[in-house]
Amino acid sequence: MDGRIAQLAEKRRLCDEHGALLGVDDCHATGVIGPHGRGTAAHCGLFGRVDLITGTFGKALGGASGGFTACSRPVADLLRQRSRPYLFSNTMAPPLVGAALAALDLLESSDAAVQRVQAHAARFRTALQAQGHTLIGSGHPIVPMMLGDEQAAKALALKLHHAGVHAVFSYPVVPRGRARIRTQLSAAHTGADLDEAVAAFAATG
Ligand SMILES: Cc1ncc(COP(=O)(O)O)c(C=O)c1O
Repeated sequence: MDGRIAQLAEKRRLCDEHGALLGVDDCHATGVIGPHGRGTAAHCGLFGRVDLITGTFGKALGGASGGFTACSRPVADLLRQRSRPYLFSNTMAPPLVGAALAALDLLESSDAAVQRVQAHAARFRTALQAQGHTLIGSGHPIVPMMLGDEQAAKALALKLHHAGVHAVFSYPVVPRGRARIRTQLSAAHTGADLDEAVAAFAATG
C-alpha cells in the first residue's frame, strides 16, 4: 500500500532467532521487484530463504486471476487439505493458467519489462515531487500520493477520473486519516501515457 519494500533480511534474522517460519505476501512484488520480477526475496538477496511466499496472477502477471503459494512440500500438502478457497472452489480456468505461464516465460527470458516499469515509476515519482506533492515509498511501481483526508482523496480521484486517470485508495483499504491517491505504473505505459498522467495531476492536484 505504501510503495515500500520490506526489509526481509531483518525479518529472516528474527525468525531464525525465534525458530519461526517466514511468510511473505508478495502480491505487489511478483513480476515487478527483483531480477526478472522474482520478488522481494530475490531483491533482498534471500532467494530460496523465505519459507512461504504467496503471489497473485492478477496484478503484474497480466491482470488475469488466481495466484500461488510457494513453499516446502509438507506445507503444500497441508494447504491442499486445509486451505478453504483451494479445497472448496473450482480450479483456475486453463486459459488463465496458460496466460500466467506465458507471463512467467516472458519474465524469465528478459528483464526488460521489469526495468521499464522501474524506470517509469522513477520518472513519474520525480515529476509528481516536482509538482510539490507528498509522496511515500521508494523503488516500487506503486507511487502513493498522500492526502490524509478521505473526502479530499475522493474528490481528487473523481477529478483525475474525468481527466482520464484511474487512481484511488481510501479507508478501509488503508487506515483512517491515511487516504491517498495510489498510482501504479505499468511496463505497458508509454512515455506519452506518463506525460498525460503528470499533466492530469498538475491540472487537478
Ligand atoms: C497485499 C495483497 N495481497 C493479496 C491480494 C489478493 O490478490 P488477489 O486479488 O489475487 O486475490 C491483494 C489484492 O489486492 C493485495 O493487495
